[in-house]
Amino acid sequence: MSEKTHKRRSQAWFGGMTKDSFIHRSWMRNQGLPDDTFDGRPIIGIAQTFSELTPCNAHFREVAEHVKRGVLDAGGVPFEFPVFSCAESNARPTAMLFRNLASMDVEEAIRGLPIDGVVLLTGCDKTTPSLVMGTASCDVPAIVVPGGPMLNGRYRGELVGSGTHVWKYDQMVKAGEMTPEEYMGAEAAMSRSKGHCMTMGTASTMGAMVEALGLTLPGAAAIPAVDSRHALNARLSGRRIVDMVEEDLKISKILTKEAFENAIRANGAIGGSTNAVVHLLAMAGRIGVDLTLDDWDRLGRDIPTIVNLMPSGKYLMEDFFYAGGVPAVMRALLENDKLHTSTITANGKTQAENVKEAERWGDDVILDWDKPLVDSGGIAVLRGNLATDGSIIKPSAATPSLMKHRGRAVVFEDIEDYKAKIEDSDLDIDETCVMVLKGAGPKGYPGFAEVGNMGLPPKVLQKGITDMVRISDGRMSGTAYGTVVLHCAPEAAAGGNIALVRNGDMISLDVEKRSLVLEVSDEELARRRAAWGAPDFSREGGYQGLYRRTVMQADTGCDLDFLVGCRGAEIPRESH
Ligand code: FES
Repeated sequence: MSEKTHKRRSQAWFGGMTKDSFIHRSWMRNQGLPDDTFDGRPIIGIAQTFSELTPCNAHFREVAEHVKRGVLDAGGVPFEFPVFSCAESNARPTAMLFRNLASMDVEEAIRGLPIDGVVLLTGCDKTTPSLVMGTASCDVPAIVVPGGPMLNGRYRGELVGSGTHVWKYDQMVKAGEMTPEEYMGAEAAMSRSKGHCMTMGTASTMGAMVEALGLTLPGAAAIPAVDSRHALNARLSGRRIVDMVEEDLKISKILTKEAFENAIRANGAIGGSTNAVVHLLAMAGRIGVDLTLDDWDRLGRDIPTIVNLMPSGKYLMEDFFYAGGVPAVMRALLENDKLHTSTITANGKTQAENVKEAERWGDDVILDWDKPLVDSGGIAVLRGNLATDGSIIKPSAATPSLMKHRGRAVVFEDIEDYKAKIEDSDLDIDETCVMVLKGAGPKGYPGFAEVGNMGLPPKVLQKGITDMVRISDGRMSGTAYGTVVLHCAPEAAAGGNIALVRNGDMISLDVEKRSLVLEVSDEELARRRAAWGAPDFSREGGYQGLYRRTVMQADTGCDLDFLVGCRGAEIPRESH
């Protein structure tokens, strides 16, 4: 252990012989703690997102035990504390509504408690950004332990990917190609071990993002939750955080602009989720890094997708782990001059030092740089009068022939309107149309739901057609695919022009030119706007009301406006 060079936060609670330190120590002793617990050794918080209603994180009590052993190995003292657990598969109206709430919980817990450094247990989609956001607003030493993906799903000899096959099977049932009994059989076969979604959905993407940012030990993100090396990573992370406290390696030293640029490029290379855009923008906002939507387009344009995983490709996270995982991808970026080499990571070394000798096994899961799945794998940022502040599309998940398309709008005012109409055989729609969904943005839904990849109408599916251009102010699950334009900003509920689209309007999409145009004159849009009424959220109560009144738009990361920035870990006043 290196020599202590700075005062521990925790000593403001546990040090000295005052009435207050007596109180802080005495109540803690009811857990059977020895005197040396309070002698100045690093106090390590373990931010626990375990919940039996967050199935992706349901194994985290066991993970925390391995972290604790590592902390004790290194001479620290571990304390596990609960934080809000966002469950993607269960939370309604959408887990995204609670990402910022969870981040507040984490931030206030870290600042208000005797914690010198923190281990973040993350897994299901929103648990990763929320924990990083809250920690960034405090700026203490931190290391992330990703919860690990589930083992590959299998049904009747074929791989079944979390989420990806849900959309696929749902369309097959509607097209009469799969029986309800087969649908139920596949449901049981998909989630067969502990862990999070094992496609390159949002959970796997965010695991890869925190590894690319440098917040984990090398190779952590892809280790299956049930692999013994997952427990090993947890233990080594527990050891490492103790040294990070000694070295005063705060999260702000890791989360630099260059680290975010590395992560954006890594997202292109892995074919990562569109949700990473809002999460990285929000994380950057908390630590004071000036990251913009245009950085995503600029940095991703020349990055090929070399990871052949669903939803863009054919394999799953277990295969990715065996093939070399994130370090092999980062090495490919390094060798093609797409990596900032000086960014510091959690183990104290640079990203380049960590990955320069990373091994890749085979060339079908992690592909050769010059034989990619998609030449330009980044996120494309589209602008035009339909999204004046920007919208995004994931080209690697889209149909190439639809990337330039002009079609007649078929409008759904909200998701209920869509559900009411989509199976109606009288709906005036065919495969050349452009489906437009309003009311799915951060304020409108509320919470920015993953409904942008609307299923196609049955009468189109029955022709064997599986993709149409779809546009919305909502998000899309990272496990989904299609020619889907997302995150239109401003959203309809905030007065964006998407609120003014009507059935029959013509819309032009040109991904190459980065444009998204509603072919309606400014004069006509002005007339429609005069007749449009903004929703009033001023009297809505509870967290939802607070969220709707303060949430920022997708182009800046959907944080609550008063949460942006780093407020530090200044020790609060005594209360006794
Ligand atoms: Fe939790 Fe996918 S539902 S990671």
